[in-house]
Amino acid sequence: MPGKIPENLLEDILGRLDIVELISSYLPLKKAGRNFKANCPFHHEKTASFMVSPDRQIYHCFGCGESGNAFKFLMRHERMDFPEAVEMLAKKTGVVLPDRDRPGAVRAASITAQIYRINELALNFYENNLGSSSATLSRDYLLKRGITLETIKEFRLGLATSGWDGLINFLRSKNAPLSLMETAGLVLPKEAGGYYDRFRNRIIFPIFDIRNRVIGFGARVQDNTLPKYINSPETPVYTKGKNLFGLNVSKDSIRDSDCVVIVEGYLDFIIPYQEGVKNIVASQGTALTLEQIKLFKRYTHNAVMVFDGDTAGELATLRSLDILIEEGINVKIVPLLKGMDPDVLVRQQGVAAFKEKIEHAISFFDYKLKLLKSRYDMKDAHGKSKIASEMLSTINKFDNAILRCEYIKRLSEEIKIPEHYILEELKKIKPNFKPQEIENAPLQKKQAPINPAEKLLIKFMLEEKELIEKIMQELSPSDFQDLRTAKIVSVMQDLVVQGKNIQPSLLMNYFSEDDASQLVCETMFMPELSNQEREKALHDCISRIKVNRLKSRREHLHAQINNAQALGDEQKLNSLIQEFHNLIKKGD
Ligand code: UTP
Ligand code: MN
Repeated sequence: MPGKIPENLLEDILGRLDIVELISSYLPLKKAGRNFKANCPFHHEKTASFMVSPDRQIYHCFGCGESGNAFKFLMRHERMDFPEAVEMLAKKTGVVLPDRDRPGAVRAASITAQIYRINELALNFYENNLGSSSATLSRDYLLKRGITLETIKEFRLGLATSGWDGLINFLRSKNAPLSLMETAGLVLPKEAGGYYDRFRNRIIFPIFDIRNRVIGFGARVQDNTLPKYINSPETPVYTKGKNLFGLNVSKDSIRDSDCVVIVEGYLDFIIPYQEGVKNIVASQGTALTLEQIKLFKRYTHNAVMVFDGDTAGELATLRSLDILIEEGINVKIVPLLKGMDPDVLVRQQGVAAFKEKIEHAISFFDYKLKLLKSRYDMKDAHGKSKIASEMLSTINKFDNAILRCEYIKRLSEEIKIPEHYILEELKKIKPNFKPQEIENAPLQKKQAPINPAEKLLIKFMLEEKELIEKIMQELSPSDFQDLRTAKIVSVMQDLVVQGKNIQPSLLMNYFSEDDASQLVCETMFMPELSNQEREKALHDCISRIKVNRLKSRREHLHAQINNAQALGDEQKLNSLIQEFHNLIKKGD
């Protein structure tokens, strides 16, 4: 639904915008007849099945079904919500959105906008510090760690100097209020009153969100004092576990390579990235969270984890594995020796060695089993049972029964225990797991295909507004058997009655479910028919839908008759039979 933003403004924005121009600022579009095509940005593919229609101002992918108008494209590609997408395109097209349409939202947006702005100011300050002539030692520290000057610029690294109020004074000179500095996590209150800089005498690693806004900072000491890093606290724009460091620069490469390399630390990201491993993100030192997985899941379902080779790294890997598997990610692991991390590995052995390790990453099964074998004694019955139950708790996370079955088989071979005992243990974790599930798995219900006649009629109605009334004289929305087509027809009918515009790019703002709007887009890319073919098709479609209607009415009556018979309701039975005869006679 268009929500609180008036439809005429949405119409205005879409009317002034060119979706081809918008999308081509994100991906290269090639002309294909009246339309444009590209490799789909929403799933991995080698041949282009992503189409953009300048006539209709919509896009549709024949590979993955993703489709919509300009708003939807931004929502998917830039992860904006609907009001954000509208706001951005309103700005682009010069359409003025009245503030009163989003009263609460406007105020909420402005505090986050203020934080982005003050963070950006702070970052300018830190960057300048690192560039200044008095920062030679800090620059040397970074160069010694293998970070080039270009990389310092690219990632906008900075320096917090050792005073207590360098940043405060700078931000004051820019008229930023102290309360905002505090909300942004840049300063801390002193006990005696007043404030001091949170980050002092540290290298600054700015943290960006996917839209390149500065949301927070990591700050590292330049020696071995502790704590090694301090980070921004939670703020209205930053939550540590909800962000993946580097995704803003690596997302395209993750999508193109259909794989993400996940590391722990800032340097573990920066060094491999600098040396050419571009499809990489950093978790920032903890086990992966569900939110972090959801962030990269839009670009790929394949992940390789390269966490530190210490106990903390192993634990974080194990915890992450379960969530990754639960989210349907195909995950592999690069085990590192103790004391090793991706940063050190690349600098000591070169990026080729790192890439080679990623190429040869091992499965969760081999990784976890090896780890468990080093912890528990396989020769001891209790040890064996411990290994089995820990392996099973991960195997149980697979949604796919075939995979579960395969891993159970392998576990049985590895620990030399017959499969049925292992299954018995698995049942204890998940009581409703039955081996029969395996047989049913491939028969997962697909969405029923839509009757082609219904689809074609939708296309005709969308193309020619006049046809809507004509068709509605013969059919009603409920005659359409598919929920999606019925919904589209009924919305179109309502809009026509209200004298509103029904162009496809506007129409889809009325569907909150994706599949109805997807269907609208799909029909728009169906082949064009000649006038003569159209006339005939229109007639055929209407009569085919009428035949279906008759059939389902007959079935319904039949069921009612059976029911009345069973109940012995003579009177009802007679009237139903009469109705049945009438229906057959009328043939309509
Ligand atoms: P590590 O201790 O592995 O540090 O922490 P590192 O990344 O290898 O750092 P260098 O190489 O010594 O410079 C991994 C990540 O955990 C987070 C940081 O995001 C760090 O990059 N961390 C670590 C903290 O937030 N605070 C800390 O005190 C330590
Ligand atoms: Mn390190």
